[in-house]
Amino acid sequence: MGNNNCWWKETCIYQIYPRSFQDSNNDGIGDLQGIISKLDYIKDLGFETIWISPFFKSPQRDFGYDISDYTEIAPEYGTMEDCDRLIEEVHRRGMKIILDMVMNHTSDEHPWFLESSSSRDNPKRDWYVWRDGRKPGKAPTNWLSQVKGNGWQYHKETDQWYWAAFLPFQPDLNYRNPEVKETMFNIIRFWLDKGVDGFRLDIIGALFEDEEFRDNPFSFQLVPTGESSDKMFRSTKMVENLPETIEFTKELRAVLDEYDNRFLIGETFGSLKDLREFTGEMKPDGLHATFLFNSIYTPFRAPALKKMIRSYEEYFPDPWIPSYVFANHDSMRRMTTLRGNEKKIRLQTLLQHTARGIPVSYYGEEIGMKQSKFPRDKALDPVSHEYSFLPDFLFNLVGRLTHGSLNRDECRTPHQWDASPFAGFSEKKSWLPVGKDKDWTNVYSQSKDPASLLNFYKAVLMLRSTSTALKKGKMTLLDAERHILAYTRSQDGETLSIYMNISAKSRTVALPEPAGLLLSTEFDRKKEEVNELILAPWEGVVLG
Ligand code: GLC
Repeated sequence: MGNNNCWWKETCIYQIYPRSFQDSNNDGIGDLQGIISKLDYIKDLGFETIWISPFFKSPQRDFGYDISDYTEIAPEYGTMEDCDRLIEEVHRRGMKIILDMVMNHTSDEHPWFLESSSSRDNPKRDWYVWRDGRKPGKAPTNWLSQVKGNGWQYHKETDQWYWAAFLPFQPDLNYRNPEVKETMFNIIRFWLDKGVDGFRLDIIGALFEDEEFRDNPFSFQLVPTGESSDKMFRSTKMVENLPETIEFTKELRAVLDEYDNRFLIGETFGSLKDLREFTGEMKPDGLHATFLFNSIYTPFRAPALKKMIRSYEEYFPDPWIPSYVFANHDSMRRMTTLRGNEKKIRLQTLLQHTARGIPVSYYGEEIGMKQSKFPRDKALDPVSHEYSFLPDFLFNLVGRLTHGSLNRDECRTPHQWDASPFAGFSEKKSWLPVGKDKDWTNVYSQSKDPASLLNFYKAVLMLRSTSTALKKGKMTLLDAERHILAYTRSQDGETLSIYMNISAKSRTVALPEPAGLLLSTEFDRKKEEVNELILAPWEGVVLG
């Protein structure tokens, strides 16, 4: 059994979408060398861990989430030597690196699937989930994919259907087959041996399906809430968060525990109760953490946020830990969700990094990048093609209701490093057009401006890194008026209080005792002792 010093409980994570981060060879596609060249930037910002979206060999139909070889690097991203160097360079800076592991499915171009689909009696047939139709032309069950429609795909050559929980070209592996499980565990060991510090587990809740292939029952779910993974009118009971999947995550955890100090964070959907099960119901012996996406669906108002925090604390009390994530490569950029209100973004940043939990930021959040709009027929995201039948207004409406999930290109445009034609991402071209706001929303110009969002991010992360209370202290919500979100973090005699005015009016807060102002979302606020706290509209402070 390996050691675990629980570094992951105190860390803060920066997500890199490698295709869009930094292009080192001017082919328009970001790459591993590009990431290496920006490690100092990330460290200087104050992030301690990077999570990189998949860069394994892939036909790139879902930009890396369709893997065709788990132990090779996609040539557009670099070589295995680059990857080894990346791991080394991250560690040299005292940081950690987490890879994105897509275990649920492979690409349909993976040699395993090519074999499996070649004939019904191929030895790899059972590596995927194959089944006869209910009757000719009718899928085996009513199970919906996570994207659209029935997830069973008919395969003419062998006259059977294969199950694909996401897109048709991403067939699900069959984890009831022990060979599949062992092969995957060995792939995990391959990367752990290389020194990676852990994995983000892509749609891990979808790993197993009902063994008896029963239909999913009716559900009342109409709009996604983050509370449930159910689809419109259809529960996901037979395909999501099965006991076998939970059991599997424990076995996977045991593989990680063969090594020292490694970490698993799951992309899971469902109720907080479901998610808690993934992290161990009676003791924390499952995944170390899961993404809690409620934050994406929770209105940015004090009462709703208080309720969310209370529920996180209830389901993930120490030694469990919640996560605070507001954006990723599948969802709308927060600057757009919060309608360009940078003050709200600052409050969110403050909350994210001072609450008890693992904060996960998506590249570009530190400068407030927005969704990019470009013509729909130019979209590269395969999910958007699935919805090409929808007229524009419906496409946009559903896209908004599902927080940007219909055309994920819009949140994946190149990082904006400077105002040059390709925003410093590349000198010659970029796979997606650079954001129109690059002239003023870019790292270079914000780094020169002490009042910028970028510098605010740095200040918050700096405070976090130097405070034991913020890194691991107990969190207590304080009673406060409706529009104020207030809590303390305390550890070993150090107590910090956080007050946020989540409203457009200035508000006064009575303090139990005078306290020193350590940080404010307002750049020009004096760092002085305060007796009575007057918060400007949308102002948040840390007192100590
Ligand atoms: C996850 C990823 C998403 C990907 C899908 C299929 O939701 O975050 O980007 O398309 O899984 O792997």
